[in-house]
Amino acid sequence: MAHQWGQQVIIITGASSGIGKALAYALAPHSPRLVLASRDRGRLEAVAKACERLGATTLVVPTDVADPQACHDLIQATIDTFSRLDVLVNNAGMSMWSNVEDIQRIEQFKHLLEVNFLGSVYCTKYALPFLKQSHGRIVAISSVTSFTGIPSHAIYSASKHAMNGFFESLRIELDGTGVSVTIVAPDFVQTEIFERSLGADGHTLGLHLRGYDSFLRSEACAAIIIQAMARRKRLVVTSLRGKLGRWVKLCWPQAIDWIARRGVEEVLRK
Ligand SMILES: NC(=O)c1ccc[n+]([C@@H]2O[C@H](COP(=O)([O-])OP(=O)(O)OC[C@H]3O[C@@H](n4cnc5c(N)ncnc54)[C@H](OP(=O)(O)O)[C@@H]3O)[C@@H](O)[C@H]2O)c1
Repeated sequence: MAHQWGQQVIIITGASSGIGKALAYALAPHSPRLVLASRDRGRLEAVAKACERLGATTLVVPTDVADPQACHDLIQATIDTFSRLDVLVNNAGMSMWSNVEDIQRIEQFKHLLEVNFLGSVYCTKYALPFLKQSHGRIVAISSVTSFTGIPSHAIYSASKHAMNGFFESLRIELDGTGVSVTIVAPDFVQTEIFERSLGADGHTLGLHLRGYDSFLRSEACAAIIIQAMARRKRLVVTSLRGKLGRWVKLCWPQAIDWIARRGVEEVLRK
């Protein structure tokens, strides 16, 4: 599969950290042209340098995906530089842990949806004409929280449900165009997302989840994503409990509510 990424133009949003960074590093030895986007230019440039050493050509485009104009400019910069686009990985995201009742500012809901959901929508919308030309691939990094409700994680879970609804609809619209839509639903992955999660007051929580060391490593997650991209898979779920949970929920939804509550209590336990 490796050779297939050579010279391919691949945009990764959220490439400065975690899963996006691991994905860039895993693809780089196959000589793709990587477009690395997120807000932090310094971190992106460090990732770009490492990717170039591994064999990739890179373009760094500092982008806040909550801003539709910035998403437009990201796609435009890609086309201006490389004249094509083969893969768009919608990975940028953030997290929030708080009960709905405790959220202090109503704008917090909107902001999370703008980053996690609308950011993917904006990038995809602007990328579509170019992906159709290349019979390209769209990858949406969703979550196992897109399949069921998660206490203290309602707006995050809602943003991932929204991603699934959008990308499943788009897949049907794109039938016959040669463009594939792959939804990836990771369970817990070892990244900075927990530390950077926002709390009820909108400030960073610096969370350290219990069991962190047992979470999937970001490199392993990146390998799963690349395989799914290569095979143009519809959906990939990274954990057994994520895979089984979807079926159990159909016949016994209360059991899944209980498992979600227990799971959250366990990881948030001091
Ligand atoms: N880690 C997990 O357990 C897990 C599980 C399921 C799904 N996911 C999903 O995986 C994706 C990647 O998360 P991660 O775990 O790798 O977290 P991470 O290490 O915190 O990385 C998040 C990335 O998103 C970027 N980002 C955040 N806000 C942004 C914005 N407004 N505009 C552009 N980029 C932005 C960050 O870069 P800047 O700060 O430079 O902008 C960073 O590169 C997310 O969509 C997340 O929901 C993660």
